Amino acid sequence: MKITSAQLREKYLVFFESKGHKRIQSASLIPENDPTVLFTTAGMHPLVPFLLGGQHPAGKRLCNVQKCIRTGDIEDVGDAWHLSFFEMLGNWSLGDYFKKEAIEFSFEFLTKGLGIPKERLSVTCFAGDNDSPRDNEAAMAWEKQGVPKERIHFLGKADNWWGPAGNTGPCGPDTEMFYHVKDVKEKGTDDFVRLCKEGVFCEIWNDVLMQYNKTAEGIYAEGAQKNIDTGMGVERTVAVLNGFDNAYECDTLKPILEKVKSLSPQFNLAKGVPERTALLKSARIITDHLRAAAMVMGDEKGISPSNVDQGYVLRKFIRRSIRHARLIGISGKFCRGVAEVVVGVMGEAYPEVEKNRERVFAGLEAEEEKFSAALENGMKLLEKELSLLAGSGGKELGAKQAFDIYQSHGFPIEMITEICAEKGFSADSKGFEALLAQHQELSRKGAEKKFKGGLADNSEQATKLHTATHLLNEALREVVDKGIRQKGSNITPERLRFDFNSNEKLTDEQLKKVEDWVNAAINSGAEVSVEVMGVDGAKKAGAQGVFEGKYSDKVKVYTISSGGKVFSKEICGGPHVKNTKELGRFRILKQEAVAAGIRRIKAVVE
Ligand code: ALA
Repeated sequence: MKITSAQLREKYLVFFESKGHKRIQSASLIPENDPTVLFTTAGMHPLVPFLLGGQHPAGKRLCNVQKCIRTGDIEDVGDAWHLSFFEMLGNWSLGDYFKKEAIEFSFEFLTKGLGIPKERLSVTCFAGDNDSPRDNEAAMAWEKQGVPKERIHFLGKADNWWGPAGNTGPCGPDTEMFYHVKDVKEKGTDDFVRLCKEGVFCEIWNDVLMQYNKTAEGIYAEGAQKNIDTGMGVERTVAVLNGFDNAYECDTLKPILEKVKSLSPQFNLAKGVPERTALLKSARIITDHLRAAAMVMGDEKGISPSNVDQGYVLRKFIRRSIRHARLIGISGKFCRGVAEVVVGVMGEAYPEVEKNRERVFAGLEAEEEKFSAALENGMKLLEKELSLLAGSGGKELGAKQAFDIYQSHGFPIEMITEICAEKGFSADSKGFEALLAQHQELSRKGAEKKFKGGLADNSEQATKLHTATHLLNEALREVVDKGIRQKGSNITPERLRFDFNSNEKLTDEQLKKVEDWVNAAINSGAEVSVEVMGVDGAKKAGAQGVFEGKYSDKVKVYTISSGGKVFSKEICGGPHVKNTKELGRFRILKQEAVAAGIRRIKAVVE
């Protein structure tokens, strides 16, 4: 290979370091303290508080490689370029450099850093509307670099605008860079759009020029701080630089795809004859989905399949994989074997998936077992429906019946159709698709609603709960056990949720004591102060934090103290109140068990 993922990551980070950027760690796939979004979908997510003006401990120029999941793209997976899990390279200016420099950096990295001939690049800029003028400035910056006018295209908001991440906040036009997979020249913008659709041109990088702040009234006001937020897809870029026309040729996907193909008798039979599109599509879906599933389960905040939130998406990844495996003739348990390859290709860049490998394998096997049972039950239900149908002289299984089987047992429509055909029936798959689309539209709307709540919840109540969480964390150690550590935290404006290690249920008396400890700290009118320091310094100072590879070299440490008494010292991104008096009364709502050895407390301040 001309360039591998590891080489691209390093090249990118070294390049931006040479331009004064500090390298920061990839955050978890599961957003911290953010109930409004299921997964980290871009490098900017964990940085929202800093794009809003907060001071990042590592400074104003940052870069990293971030693991991302985009659930909105799941239905498109199987084509050449869409992936649900992918790696994003990013560089940020937090109120530092802006448009001109960002474009200069991008062009220099693409042409000099990666050696892409400028003839193989096209770019897009924002066409302008009532909210913001046509971005001639960006276009001129590209021209100055040597990109000819005819390869600079102006598109509208749907294509050339990013954000805000929530309802309000930083956003702005963006400018995107496309690699010409084949050496062709577009004839005008319409032709450019067609070539993108056909996969001849592939978007590899997006520079967001965050110059606006969308207000609650829906007005795009000039932002107090102008930011740059960029994102380059690792898999796509590696593939195109090596001359391939699809992302699955990237070294973090190809070995997985090869493994999947080797398990399928249909691929083995098809050797020597051109691969059938449907076969390849299924193999790609299994490849993408099991990689995503392994990365979610192997994440530092790894979670298990379930029927809600991230667990539900994870379940969908695994079940969809099993369904497609059956379609291409893979029977029996196969997920572990594929996941072993995933750990092999991803473990070096993301050591957490290597460290948690056994948890990943066990989780996959358990889900496979569960779904086999669902398949069996779905089969029984389908047979019952067919005998009812036969009794009434019907020939076609109704869309509603098919959809019920799909929904209640996760039973794939392709199999429903196949089995119906074997037994001399047809299935209303068109009607099924319509019901599915309706259902997806509803869940998409639900997901959007969830997302719209805003990423960084800096509301007054959430801020109070952040501070209360620090006190609760310390109180548990003081009252219950010195060995207690935070295992998870989630804050909504309504309540805090705190997970910690403990094998025992806390007694009512212990809970009361924890509450009293927190309220005593609150009533003492303790000051909340913040210091920026190195990770080692923070450790030495006795600050609480999850130290395993999570932090960049500089961190913020929040101390809550009153009259020389330190109640809590903890690494955190904030936000926090200034004085604990602002909190009001702390009350524990309930405690629960979440997993073996992990307990959860929900609490409020009122
Ligand atoms: N946040 C921008 C994106 O994801 C860079 O495209």
